[in-house]
Amino acid sequence: MPKPHIYVERTLAVIKPDAVHHADEIEDIITQNGFSVLHKRKVQLTPEQASELYSEHFGKMFFPSLITYMSSGPIVALVIAKDKAISSWRELIGPTNALIAKQSHPDSLRAKYGTDDQQNALHGSDSFTSAEKEIRFFFPDSIVEPISIGDSAKS
Ligand code: PPS
Repeated sequence: MPKPHIYVERTLAVIKPDAVHHADEIEDIITQNGFSVLHKRKVQLTPEQASELYSEHFGKMFFPSLITYMSSGPIVALVIAKDKAISSWRELIGPTNALIAKQSHPDSLRAKYGTDDQQNALHGSDSFTSAEKEIRFFFPDSIVEPISIGDSAKS
């Protein structure tokens, strides 16, 4: 019997260079928290690609070091899906600055795997518009269409 097709919210999760060696463990936590992993890719961004991904922060004082850092080693990008995926993932990873996360959200993933505001282990899209843009950045061929819950089409 075919599975029912419904729209499930998606977001982009990125495991940053400082946490890539924990990627398998983090992916387990992602699925244990009810997310489906729809796509996954390990890549190393060029500085130009990192600048495009973080273009909204162009001009900020931390921009050059953010770009150097995000292009310094491999990262893992995942498209993850769940009801309210965008806010759920942001909640699970915790505050941007891992130092603050360790104080205020000790159970969050940034508290566990991150170090500070640059080496904060994980990224999550902050809105529906950002999620769509960031998913297309890493997975240009992915099509936003209804999916069957439980399907896992990793690429
Ligand atoms: S802002 O200005 O409030 O919009 O910035 P914020 O949301 O705090 O952070 C946006 C991303 O920039 C990274 N960041 C930094 N990188 C390097 N150095 C410093 N000082 C720094 N401060 C913030 C931060 O890790 C955020 O990346 P993402 O991928 O969104 O977590």
